[in-house]
Amino acid sequence: PAPGWALDADVVVVGSGVAGLTAALRCAAAGRRTVVVTKARLDDGSTRWAQGGIAAALGEGDTPEQHLDDTLVAGAGLCDEAAVRLLVTEGPDAVRRLMATGAVFDTSAETGEIELTREGGHHRRRIAHAGGDATGAEISRALVEAVQAAGIRTVENALVLDLLQDERGRSAGVTLHVMGEGQHDGVGAVHAPAVILATGGMGQVFSATTNPSVSTGDGVALALRAGAEVSDLEFVQFHPTVLFLGPDAEGQQPLVSEAVRGEGAHLVDADGVRFMAGRHELAELAPRDIVAKGIMRRMQEQGAQHMFLDARHFGAEMWEQRFPTILAACRSHGIDPVTEPIPVAPAAHYASGGVRTDLHGRTTVPGLYACGEVACTGVHGANRLASNSLLEGLVFAERIADDITARALTGGGPGIPVPATGPLQPAQARYEIQRIMTDGAGVLRSAESLRTAAEALEGLYATALNNLEAHGKTAEPGVDTWEATNLLCVARVLVAAARRRVETRGCHWREDHPDRDDAAWRRHLVVRLSATEK
Ligand code: SIN
Repeated sequence: PAPGWALDADVVVVGSGVAGLTAALRCAAAGRRTVVVTKARLDDGSTRWAQGGIAAALGEGDTPEQHLDDTLVAGAGLCDEAAVRLLVTEGPDAVRRLMATGAVFDTSAETGEIELTREGGHHRRRIAHAGGDATGAEISRALVEAVQAAGIRTVENALVLDLLQDERGRSAGVTLHVMGEGQHDGVGAVHAPAVILATGGMGQVFSATTNPSVSTGDGVALALRAGAEVSDLEFVQFHPTVLFLGPDAEGQQPLVSEAVRGEGAHLVDADGVRFMAGRHELAELAPRDIVAKGIMRRMQEQGAQHMFLDARHFGAEMWEQRFPTILAACRSHGIDPVTEPIPVAPAAHYASGGVRTDLHGRTTVPGLYACGEVACTGVHGANRLASNSLLEGLVFAERIADDITARALTGGGPGIPVPATGPLQPAQARYEIQRIMTDGAGVLRSAESLRTAAEALEGLYATALNNLEAHGKTAEPGVDTWEATNLLCVARVLVAAARRRVETRGCHWREDHPDRDDAAWRRHLVVRLSATEK
């Protein structure tokens, strides 16, 4: 649709989590006219749901080198070591700058130093946290306040549609669908030569996820339509311990942070047996893929729908002070972790892959940057190390802002929207996609399950195409139909990559290829859609 209104800027940031707001603050501080657009409210993305914290070598005796080692092990042979090195060496100062911006982390009453916890895959206490288990909420609060204090222009309820590109293919801004913002209602555009995608993840492609409802892969879908390269989409991380609310629970599910295990909680089966002990030297604190697989295996062995996380020994006082968010979530569902073990099962949590970038966050489309969960910088490899994602958002947002301010980006004229050639999906396709993906491309995958998923997804695409071509009918444009269309776009690419990778590595688990195959598969699957595939 043709834009009905337009804003001009030097930089448009799409998304308002830790990555987007950090980039916006730094671009604005360097004098760039910056506009932040976000799909719902400024604090509605994934950042505010982060519990455990932010990993950085801040503790005595810890070093970036040790953080690097743990990150590379978790990444199962597919991390880009140069990117990880930047993350872990620039990370500690980036966290200190975040504190200077106003984020308040928990400190020890005795020493006054930042209190650090442990999570899966970390050989040390390295995770800074806030409000006990409300780290993301505190970071979000501090950054939103800083953006408002800096007078940065923000447009809420603005779903990004497509990239605008000039005649040479350079970024020229984005088109948006805005609801309920008065003067900006309807389809509009922000013209800017630098576009930073910070749209978060795509957890909503599965039925049960820790991600909020806004995490629908919009940034990856936009980048694919714009011809940018996308990498590693098959590596979807399933968080091992998500509160189990029944086999048919749908949408966002309450997370039970790994920090609960970091403070000594045990994973047990229905007989009270600690099944992770003996499976890995770190037992419950093994890297996340290993714990998720351990839980799934035990569930298979016992025909169970979930396992339990037992932290009764923390006692009421520790639960209330250290994990108030999780305690309240459990109690609101009738489970009291002080007196009973918590039923838990894995659920979709994090997209380790995304829009491929270099070490400055540049994608393969000039002027288009990607940062945070939407990006694939190479730091996560085949499995992200716990609490590295907030850190990645911070460090690479700063690198992007510095790259933009160091360059004289030109363009930003009216631009031409990338033609979105696929038909819009009806809103209810969202639930069909989620069921198809959970059944066929979830924690356990096989050639057969993935083939079934691919066929079902192609069926949805073909039905919408046929309705358009044969009957001239298409779904009404709106947030829910664009979201369903984006979900289908990323689901098709994800399943295609998962079918191609015939090995088990990190969080990609193929039942029919149970071993890691370094000779054939220590490489990335990079996708770029051709015009006919869009
Ligand atoms: C958690 O608190 O367990 C989540 C941490 C993360 O996903 O990095």
